Amino acid sequence: MNINMNPNGELVQSAVNAPGVIEIPDSFIAEAKQFRELMMMYTCAIRETKTKLEVLNDELAVRNQRNPIQMIKSRVKKPSSITEKLQRRGLPVSVKSVKDNLDDVAGIRVICSFLDDIYTVANMLARQDDVDVLMVKDYIRSPKANGYRSYHMIIQVPIYFSNGKTKMRVEVQLRTLAMDFWASLDHQMKYKKNLDDADEIIEELTACAEMIAAADLRMQRIREKIDERENPPSPFQRDRD
Ligand code: GTP
Ligand code: MG
Repeated sequence: MNINMNPNGELVQSAVNAPGVIEIPDSFIAEAKQFRELMMMYTCAIRETKTKLEVLNDELAVRNQRNPIQMIKSRVKKPSSITEKLQRRGLPVSVKSVKDNLDDVAGIRVICSFLDDIYTVANMLARQDDVDVLMVKDYIRSPKANGYRSYHMIIQVPIYFSNGKTKMRVEVQLRTLAMDFWASLDHQMKYKKNLDDADEIIEELTACAEMIAAADLRMQRIREKIDERENPPSPFQRDRD
């Protein structure tokens, strides 16, 4: 989702579409305002985190003459998805509950060129002293049973608002372009549950995930060979090794 979009478009729309005869309780309006404010704060957390990633990409691009990050996508979770997730988990649907219980309202997807770029960028982000890493799930070293691979981090970043600093949680998913291609097909599959040959497709997808992982590794090795030829190790290094 474009971060410049009003994250509450859906909320505003549903309020506008409410039949005129229904009187909206003051408590609901107050909560709606707080919700809107919270979504704005998540949008700002995305902006801040994206800037951090773009800075790292720019620096590494100058140093290594190639971009470790190919693309950054971001979205603020839709109000309907927020409500659905809270209800599914049996949690109250309130502003406080969103803040306390959800880690992925602000989501950033970082598409890297090579496998090792994922770890380079993730470690550089984690080392920044205003970034708290709350959780890491390395689905590259330990892929899911279906073959899903990505490196997930839940981080907390301070955002400076008019009345002070608030720490906001952001989910960062790092993956290669090939992993992203696979995940989008897998995602489509989840929305098409009525396929007759679903089992066969799932099996085929898992097989593709393994091929993609092998290709990612081979592509990285090719790049390493090219790097070595362009920058052979110095005689000093050779002696030492
Ligand atoms: P959620 O309730 O979905 O947030 O799961 P979780 O809290 O256990 O987190 P997890 O790190 O496992 O997954 C979070 C996100 O990763 C999901 O919302 C998806 O964007 C992505 N993801 C995880 N597993 C899969 C998968 O099997 N396929 C695809 N396409 N995406 C996945
Ligand atoms: Mg999620």
